[in-house]
Amino acid sequence: MHLKKRPRRLRQNEAIRSMLQEHTVSVDDLIMPLFVKSGNSIKEEIPTMPGQFRYSIDELIKKVAHLQKLGIKCIALFPIIEDSLKDSMASEAINEQGLYLTAIREVKKEFPQMLVMSDIALDPYSSDGHDGLVDEKSKKILNDESIDIFKQMAIAHAKAGADILGPSDMMDGRVRAIRDALESNGFKDVVIMSYCVKYASSFYGPFRDALDSAPKNGDKKSYQMDYHNKKDALIEARADEAEGADILMVKPGLSYLDIIQDLSQNSSLPIAAYNVSGEYAMVKFAHQAGAVDEKQIMMESLTSFKRAGAQIILTYFAEEMAMLLSKS
Ligand code: PBG
Repeated sequence: MHLKKRPRRLRQNEAIRSMLQEHTVSVDDLIMPLFVKSGNSIKEEIPTMPGQFRYSIDELIKKVAHLQKLGIKCIALFPIIEDSLKDSMASEAINEQGLYLTAIREVKKEFPQMLVMSDIALDPYSSDGHDGLVDEKSKKILNDESIDIFKQMAIAHAKAGADILGPSDMMDGRVRAIRDALESNGFKDVVIMSYCVKYASSFYGPFRDALDSAPKNGDKKSYQMDYHNKKDALIEARADEAEGADILMVKPGLSYLDIIQDLSQNSSLPIAAYNVSGEYAMVKFAHQAGAVDEKQIMMESLTSFKRAGAQIILTYFAEEMAMLLSKS
């Protein structure tokens, strides 16, 4: 055969292949989510997330030290709140002496360089397990009534030292309210990474196990997005951009690479992808069953986020990926 075009010329050896790689994952792209609970010397594995743990603050500090050594620049913290502290107003969310704000303060005290991303939503603190307040009679998730506590949470998190706030509740207008609250309270440099495009997804199952935060009644479909739809993503992105978000996140990640690409082409803000708990669990359990090689799958799927247009990846694989990158 006489062929002018032989795409295989550029795939013939490792040297030429690595020279031509368009998208690669770096440790700078990764945010590691971590779970904190009250107590001492606690490091308990989450059964549905092999290799991920609930840490008491002292153990969390050890973990963060290790992540910092690996070059990880940012962690996202989530609290496990005791049932006895949950109520319908989610009042524990703004308790300055409570677990979450204490954990943020302690991490920032030990590691001022480590970026701490906090989560703004009521589900860990709410006896209803919803991200916003619930109307007792109608069982509706209240939008405007939930915003006030988000503003208080934002100020409390910023005061505790959080560098990045992650509103994950999907109420309308919350980014603007949080931005206003930060500006009027002197926290002008605090970054908002909005959970901008967050679908109502079954991929969050293991996370809800980890936090024991599943909704007590109903589901989250009246505020999280419908996975049959794509246009909604642009509406959410435009709103959050106009309301003062600095970074837009898409969640979950792997089934939503089209949405990541859409946002990265239609917004000038940086795009983050959340490689969520269910995606992590599937890889871990498939590896345990001998079906796939978890390291290879990790590399391939994290790279797909970059190829789709994400600049930042929140992933439970962050530590493992950083270890792999530091070896190669
Ligand atoms: C809740 C929240 C969820 C996750 C992050 N923040 C779950 C939910 O919306 O029910 C999921 C993260 C994951 O699955 O890894 N505000």
